[in-house]
Amino acid sequence: MTSSLEHLTANDQSDGHAIALSNVVKTFGETRAVNGLTLDVPRGICMGLLGPNGAGKSTTMRMLTGQALPDSGDIRVLGLSVPKQSKQARARMGVVPQRENLDEELTCRQNVSIWATLLRVHRRDREQAVDRVLAAAQLTDRADAKASTLSGGMRRRLLIARSLVHQPSLVLLDEPTVGLDPQIRGDIWTLIDGLRSSGVTVLMSTHYIEEAERLCDDVAVVSHGRVIAQGAPSALVAQYAGVEALECFGSPDRLTMIERRCDELGFPSRRTGPTVSVLRAEAIPLHVIEQFGEALRRPANLEDVFVRLTGERLEG
Ligand SMILES: Nc1ncnc2c1ncn2[C@@H]1O[C@H](COP(=O)(O)OP(=O)(O)O)[C@@H](O)[C@H]1O
Ligand SMILES: [Mg+2]
Repeated sequence: MTSSLEHLTANDQSDGHAIALSNVVKTFGETRAVNGLTLDVPRGICMGLLGPNGAGKSTTMRMLTGQALPDSGDIRVLGLSVPKQSKQARARMGVVPQRENLDEELTCRQNVSIWATLLRVHRRDREQAVDRVLAAAQLTDRADAKASTLSGGMRRRLLIARSLVHQPSLVLLDEPTVGLDPQIRGDIWTLIDGLRSSGVTVLMSTHYIEEAERLCDDVAVVSHGRVIAQGAPSALVAQYAGVEALECFGSPDRLTMIERRCDELGFPSRRTGPTVSVLRAEAIPLHVIEQFGEALRRPANLEDVFVRLTGERLEG
């Protein structure tokens, strides 16, 4: 007991990263869900795993908690080797799964209390810990309501509250706002941002660009089970998409002309339905833009980065 604790403390101090994944592979039959994924998450930041459905985000999360076992590769969480020491690692991290698993017949307070017990919060501190996280998630008013009566946004906040009851130093959130209305997402963002501000390391997955851009200090772009680019959202956008994009509309012939012209001039473009988006539009000479007809300038974003790198889309 003492030796494992000493070990944990020693590693905690020497290892600068909250999470280190090295060349991790996980297959399901023929599917390579995670395909040589390497990622370091420094302590105290909010890191986003940004990728479309099927990119391997949830599988990666599940391997970090020891719920799924890697075929190969190396995983360290808070200085502990996973899956070998996943029990110790799990005791120090909060986990919000993509799939909700609340006890519907229990109240909010009971849902959190059970986890406080499971996660070995001392009996003496339990009540206070439960009150603290319910308040943080703005659920004090609903503490005695059954989970089954909560709205979608409240349910998600309860899942987050539950994950925080043992004061973890690392929190994993798998698609924390998926399926929620945009205006309700804001409440969850405030909660996640508060965690980061209080020094907790956050790893969250998402396929929403706005979520990644607003919340994450760093983003790891995940495609087909690998990290294909990593950095601050603004740095990724500047590097791969420039400052502005130009959305051009018009007849198919016009769009084809625009694509050809961009190709000649070396500006990356992509067609989605009735639109051609041209990247690095800030550098296109005005007389060229005038030839393009109806067009709309907008700031470049992480969706542009993803499309540029993969040829695929993130959302929708
Ligand atoms: N338990 C499983 N059995 C079989 N295939 C799975 C399982 N879990 C995930 N997959 C497959 O692995 C790939 C990655 O899935 P997942 O990690 O859920 O991606 P994401 O969370 O990025 O949407 C997908 O092709 C998915 O169908
Ligand atoms: Mg997922």
